[in-house]
Amino acid sequence: MLRLAALTALLLAAHSAGGEDAPVNTCVDCHGDLLEEAGGDIHRAAGFSCVDCHGGDPRAEEQDRAMSPARGYVGVPTAMAAANMCGHCHSDIERMRVINPRLPTDQLAQYRTSDHGKLAARGDEKVATCVSCHGSHGVRPVGDPASPAGKSRVVETCSGCHNPSYMEGRSIPTDQLPKYEQSVHGRKRLEERDLAAPACNDCHGNHGAAPPGVSAVTHVCGRCHATQAELFEGSTHASHFRDFDAPPCTTCHNHHEILATSDDMLGTGERGVCSACHTPGDPCDEATKAMKAGMTRLGERIEQAHDALDRARRLGMDVERPTFELAGSEDALVRARATIHAFSEERTEAVVKDGVEIATAVETSAESKLAEYQYRRRGLAVAAAMLLLFAGLLALRAHRLEKRRLQDGP
Ligand code: HEC
Ligand code: HEC
Ligand code: HEC
Ligand code: HEC
Ligand code: HEC
Ligand code: HEC
Ligand code: HEC
Ligand code: HEC
Ligand code: HEC
Repeated sequence: MLRLAALTALLLAAHSAGGEDAPVNTCVDCHGDLLEEAGGDIHRAAGFSCVDCHGGDPRAEEQDRAMSPARGYVGVPTAMAAANMCGHCHSDIERMRVINPRLPTDQLAQYRTSDHGKLAARGDEKVATCVSCHGSHGVRPVGDPASPAGKSRVVETCSGCHNPSYMEGRSIPTDQLPKYEQSVHGRKRLEERDLAAPACNDCHGNHGAAPPGVSAVTHVCGRCHATQAELFEGSTHASHFRDFDAPPCTTCHNHHEILATSDDMLGTGERGVCSACHTPGDPCDEATKAMKAGMTRLGERIEQAHDALDRARRLGMDVERPTFELAGSEDALVRARATIHAFSEERTEAVVKDGVEIATAVETSAESKLAEYQYRRRGLAVAAAMLLLFAGLLALRAHRLEKRRLQDGP
């Protein structure tokens, strides 16, 4: 309803073109159908019209004159021409500053450095250009859920081209979407709608899309996994990996199919990711065994402490405080798993040791409270038994007295 009203208003405005305030725009006399598409168009809202992109003469009645190349008319642009058309304003800092000073003005510059832009400049018409990701007439702010570049639609937009059928005849891999859908990131993002997990553009950039080079991977992942990135860069592996030309994080975790991690990934075993460069029995393998053993030990201590606290809770004891303390050792286990990125037995062991100390303290205190409880209960039972015995004796004595009274008679 509202939309229809808005459309009618637009059409009326367009037809009254020639009136005092509305600028003349004969384009829409013949292309009125495009107004509907342009309903939510940000450019229209900002006061731009057809000629701001297409050129031509918006006062001419006849098609030939209106759409005359002599009047600067451009029809459907090639991929690179479209980028230049949009960039004409979007790279113009002074022009953009007036209307929306908060918008960056580097899209075209970035685009030129991207694989899309480089191929477009060489005449590849199938690569993404501004229009592929934003549309041409119904362009919306990227924060609008309907924008194809927006957070909820961008994966769909990239995969609309990055799939086997669109890429037919090209040599680049086309399995990004199915792999991403399997990954921890894809599941969080697509199934749980968790925007903290990266979409395609969080790793590739919006306008500079390219596969991150070996040297950029730490930064790409490190934006969200800062601890692991810092530890890795501080480790001797940072230079070992460079020597092998192996990308930092993705060598062990993959790039699109990043799966949930586990202790089994450590070492040269079946699920081990170290075997790419290490062999069973070498210093890595030995160190890994120790790290794994440490984490297993910590895991067991935490479980034992939980067990003791559970028993105490069932007996009605207040275990809020020790439960809170135990969280510290659970945190240590999480930290230990991150600390493996320092690839140092000592550093992992130090974290494990902290955790084991906390868990042991919690368990010891819970067990001693339990023992105290048992002791008190035992004490109570003895006291109760004594009381019963005493009462029994009293009753017996009373009974005897009564019997004697009856025998003695009144
Ligand atoms: C008198 C009617 C008329 C006017 C006025 C007119 N057009 Fe067109 N336009 C057409 C027709 C018909 C077509 C499709 C056939 C063709 O391409 O010749 C067309 C096609 C186009 C196309 C697509 C070209 C392509 O390569 O597919 C663009 C872009 C366009 N017009 C823009 C404009 C703009 C901008 C204006 C105003 C400055 C304008 N038109 C004014 C009738 C008109
Ligand atoms: C922000 C820039 C921009 C504005 C404003 C704009 N266009 Fe376009 N237009 C484009 C681009 C880019 C394409 C090519 C689309 C593509 O490659 O998919 C296009 C395509 C077209 C086409 C051919 C394809 C189609 O969608 O039918 C016509 C006709 C057209 N425009 C007319 C107009 C008219 C009329 C207006 C004003 C009401 C207008 N355009 C406003 C950028 C613009
Ligand atoms: C491969 C897809 C793609 C291409 C090609 C593309 N964009 Fe974008 N654009 C995006 C994404 C994704 C965003 C950011 C969305 C977000 O912030 O959530 C964006 C954001 C924007 C913004 C908002 C301000 C900003 O920079 O964040 C503008 C303006 C914009 N793009 C214009 C352009 C122009 C102009 C071109 C062509 C030179 C272009 N885009 C090419 C995907 C693309
Ligand atoms: C005539 C100048 C001009 C041209 C040409 C132009 N734009 Fe814009 N565009 C603007 C201005 C100005 C804004 C800011 C409007 C506002 O914030 O009110 C804008 C806003 C946008 C936004 C919304 C940014 C956001 O998230 O707030 C996108 C996306 C966008 N343009 C993409 C394009 C694309 C794609 C093209 C080419 C098809 C294009 N623009 C051509 C001037 C232009
Ligand atoms: C209109 C279709 C289209 C869209 C939309 C698109 N791409 Fe592309 N993309 C291509 C084509 C075509 C290539 C060039 C493939 C080749 O090397 O021949 C390419 C290349 C790339 C490359 C470089 C691959 C390489 O190894 O050289 C990356 C990275 C990329 N795209 C990421 C993205 C991301 C991220 C998005 C979404 C934000 C996206 N693309 C949206 C068509 C598209
Ligand atoms: C967690 C970060 C991340 C996400 C999310 C991601 N990529 Fe990538 N992508 C990478 C890295 C890193 C590479 C480089 C791999 C290499 O060169 O070893 C890459 C490579 C690529 C390539 C080059 C060809 C290839 O597969 O190696 C394309 C195309 C691509 N990605 C597109 C996409 C698309 C489309 C999406 C969304 C469905 C996506 N990426 C999501 C990190 C990511
Ligand atoms: C935009 C932020 C972001 C970026 C960029 C990012 N990630 Fe993630 N990553 C997340 C989030 C959020 C999770 C889910 C965390 C959770 O479940 O606790 C996650 C989960 C993971 C997991 C699984 C952790 C587990 O507990 O099993 C691994 C491994 C991972 N990411 C590695 C990477 C790598 C490698 C890169 C770079 C190629 C990367 N991430 C880029 C945000 C990001
Ligand atoms: C890309 C190759 C590569 C991968 C993958 C790799 N390493 Fe290494 N690592 C090396 C090199 C090279 C050395 C130094 C030579 C040596 O001591 O054997 C090394 C040495 C080590 C050392 C000895 C201490 C040191 O800093 O010199 C440990 C511990 C270690 N790696 C652990 C691991 C673990 C754990 C994994 C798997 C989670 C792993 N590495 C995966 C290349 C790799
Ligand atoms: C040499 C192999 C290797 C490299 C390189 C590597 N990781 Fe890991 N990563 C692992 C292993 C093994 C685990 C599982 C540890 C465990 O659960 O015991 C893991 C676990 C993780 C986890 C989940 C556990 C945690 O720490 O919270 C994340 C997130 C992660 N890595 C991110 C990264 C990032 C980001 C990089 C790059 C800076 C990176 N990894 C580099 C082997 C590696």
